[in-house]
Amino acid sequence: MLTLGVLASGGGTNFQAIINAIDSGYINARIAVLITDNPDSYAIERSKKHNIEPLILRPKDFAGKDTYYFHVAGELNKRGVELVILAGFMRVVGKALIDQYRNRIMNIHPALLPSFPGLHGQKQAADYGVKISGCTVHFVDEGMDTGPIIIQAAVPAYHDDTEESLGQRILKQEHKIFPHAIRLYSEGRLSIDGRKVIIKGGREDSEIMNPPLML
Ligand code: GAR
Repeated sequence: MLTLGVLASGGGTNFQAIINAIDSGYINARIAVLITDNPDSYAIERSKKHNIEPLILRPKDFAGKDTYYFHVAGELNKRGVELVILAGFMRVVGKALIDQYRNRIMNIHPALLPSFPGLHGQKQAADYGVKISGCTVHFVDEGMDTGPIIIQAAVPAYHDDTEESLGQRILKQEHKIFPHAIRLYSEGRLSIDGRKVIIKGGREDSEIMNPPLML
């Protein structure tokens, strides 16, 4: 069984979707720890409800970014974490963590990368006036949302969309593709070839997430 460690900063709905996917048997995994940088994160309540250990680690309590992520990596290692899940973790992860978990950190981003990386992907897309947006699960490398893409889902974007309305539409898809990407990893079906993630067993995953548009 795969051991996960989740990092989250906010409301934790992606965290919840992953918990639900484990509880229903969709993913064969356990979550060893929730690490948050935000003492007010609702993810803490969610972890308690599901008997997952919450750990609050605030960067300002550490000497610097390297020390912080070295410590985070140590806490994950200590608990036998094999795959690190960034579920709305609002920081650029430091090298100390990436080095210890190379190709074993997944992030969800609320836009179709490589468009609109960084913060507020939903707002960037709505303001730009794109007609299609979506979300991306990718492996994390040293760049800002630049790592190899595992899976994406598209949603329509409308001219009167706001950050919130588009964000809600995207979030629904996030809750589907993030558990799915973790499931693919847990089944040993993901491999990386340069920039590309190869999904063993066919192309159907991308097609399930992105059925042909009915216009
Ligand atoms: C999600 O929309 C996620 O894609 C985004 O934060 C939100 C967290 O929601 N992540 C980023 O923007 C990372 N740069 P949640 O706390 O309800 O899962």
